[in-house]
Amino acid sequence: MRNFIRALRFAWPFRFRLAASICFAILAAALWSLNFTAIYPILKIFGTNQNLQSWVDTSIDQCQLGIDARVKEIAVLRDGLKTFEELKDENPKKETLKRRQQAQITRVETELKTAQDEIYRYHVAKKFIDSYCPVDRFQTLLAVLLIVIVGVALRGCFEFWQESLVGDVVNRCLFRIRNLFFRRCVHLDVSNFGEVGTHELMPRFISDVDTMGGGMKTIYGKVIAEPLKALACISVAAWINWQLTLLCLVLVPFALYVLTRFGRTMKRATKKMLEGMSSMYKILQEVFQGIRIVKAFAREPRERRRFHKATRDHLYKAQWVITLDAMTSPIIELMTVVAVAGVFLMGAYIVLEKPTRIFGIAISDQGLEPETLLQLYALLAAAADPVRRLSNVYTRIQSGFAAAERIFSYLDREPKIQANAEAPVLERHQTDIEFRNVCFSYSPGQVLLEGIDLHIKHGEIVAFVGKNGCGKTSLLNLLPRFFDPDHGTIFIDGVDIRQVNLRSLRKQIAIVTQDMFLFDDTIFNNIAYAHPRATKEQVEAAARKAQAHEFIMSDLPNGYDTLVGNEGKKLSGGQRQRICLARAFLAEPTILILDEFTSQNDPEAEVDLHRTMHELRHNRTILLITHRPHTLEVADRIVVLEEGRVAATGTHAELMRTCPAYQRLHDVQQKRLVA
Ligand SMILES: Nc1ncnc2c1ncn2[C@@H]1O[C@H](COP(=O)(O)OP(=O)(O)O)[C@@H](O)[C@H]1O
Ligand SMILES: [Mg+2]
Repeated sequence: MRNFIRALRFAWPFRFRLAASICFAILAAALWSLNFTAIYPILKIFGTNQNLQSWVDTSIDQCQLGIDARVKEIAVLRDGLKTFEELKDENPKKETLKRRQQAQITRVETELKTAQDEIYRYHVAKKFIDSYCPVDRFQTLLAVLLIVIVGVALRGCFEFWQESLVGDVVNRCLFRIRNLFFRRCVHLDVSNFGEVGTHELMPRFISDVDTMGGGMKTIYGKVIAEPLKALACISVAAWINWQLTLLCLVLVPFALYVLTRFGRTMKRATKKMLEGMSSMYKILQEVFQGIRIVKAFAREPRERRRFHKATRDHLYKAQWVITLDAMTSPIIELMTVVAVAGVFLMGAYIVLEKPTRIFGIAISDQGLEPETLLQLYALLAAAADPVRRLSNVYTRIQSGFAAAERIFSYLDREPKIQANAEAPVLERHQTDIEFRNVCFSYSPGQVLLEGIDLHIKHGEIVAFVGKNGCGKTSLLNLLPRFFDPDHGTIFIDGVDIRQVNLRSLRKQIAIVTQDMFLFDDTIFNNIAYAHPRATKEQVEAAARKAQAHEFIMSDLPNGYDTLVGNEGKKLSGGQRQRICLARAFLAEPTILILDEFTSQNDPEAEVDLHRTMHELRHNRTILLITHRPHTLEVADRIVVLEEGRVAATGTHAELMRTCPAYQRLHDVQQKRLVA
């Protein structure tokens, strides 16, 4: 609810459009009731053998008669009052009689007043009818119908403008919300993406935002327009006979109760349906991404079953939403029909039996004309139509609530790792890195890294080795602050990295990640990702350094303009790795982190890369994660990680002498190479 209101507030910049749409809605409502009021003159024309002019004259005459009679009655009553006043004071009945007489006088006086009002209205009507209305009855009918048609056409225009304005405003709101949402998501911590995955996020951008938009359209459109129509009809009906109209409205609270119950069920159902959608997205994404694995292991049937199950689940949930949505209309319709039928019976009774009171309420002083009653019904029926259209409004809005909750729960997430936009910028010169007593865990209680103390001097090449899953990648992920350590501090040049501007920190670091991610774009743009304004020469130089230039020019059809396909799937693993390397080189970082960067390359390329490392080391610090003995030779120092701690540091030769863990790793690698 609160979140949905927040979504509605996004319309504030477009308030003038909304105001215009409300004006159009009011005009449309007025015309709506006017169209149905036209029934009265039509019935009159058919019901009596008079034209409008003579009808007004007779009505005025009748009214005048009534007035005269009442004036006389009042005179007689006053005389009676006088006689009562002349009675002796001792007479016990005097006061009672006087009071009764006075009450009668007041009643007749009110009647006189109503009759006078009525005759005034007839006089006004007469003036209008005499000067504008045709004398011929058929022509009058024609004129009325013409007015109705013009009214409907105008109403159509107003409704069109109203609806398109609302649609326009809501779409603009959704545009803003989507962009804000994206912005927030991109700024979230890396850990958030690990937890929920993209399949959770994608439907939020698409179906949730749409569902929320549906709710907003309903609020700004139907919720304003339809009640106005009903209100216009009911006001006219009340003007004709408020007592009967009131009777009809008795059902309103009952209808509201039913709608509320439905709405709550609907909200729950929609939430479940949207969740079902998420699990569908999850399977889609996984299967399409891992299509090679699926095919290689011939697991299509399993995936088909999995998807079938998810879609069936979604189908049931969606069916339930549809059922609820479809059920509300007939129920509301039934209720309105019951209400109208009740009032119809009552009205028929009044017309036929001419009572003046029902349930103690004065209905009408002289009974009702059948025409008036039919007019009343027409108006009430006309009021029922917008009410019927409102029937699924509540459920729509509840769906909007559910979607808004899902969206805003994300918008409200604050990244734990703050950007420190105001903090001092990390200067680009020396990059001594120090890990001081760093502890880190992904989930509380499961310590991955413990008491890491390391000092890496500027210009050093340091290699990290250790078993799979011992936390090498995690340790180096702490440097660009993808995660923050639980305890301990990381210093660059003696400055705590949590105290500096995050962008300036990340700008100093370039990473070649294990997964070698590429965008579905050209080779050129992928390399220039960190440096969108890089020249062709710069990109080529970086590619040369990464041993990528040759294969780009010789193997790829369009050289640097070749598209790499989704996630670079059109390239080989080694090629992808070298493009990633070129991208990192072009960024000119002071700290270069290379995670298993030679794992996919042939020995020849590897040797060339080692030469590059030596060239690059002059003004930067290079951190490597590798298992390759050859690559290890490039390093000045090797850090052995074991069970979340630094087991030893030193050169290859030193470690071979002193560190059993390193010896084991080395032996295994050697055996593999020999084998
Ligand atoms: N985003 C993550 N969330 C939770 N656990 C993770 C995450 N990334 C890695 N891990 C866990 O942390 C451990 C160390 O992973 P990693 O640092 O990638 O190891 P290495 O690079 O040394 O092979 C692994 O056991 C892995 O299960
Ligand atoms: Mg790793």
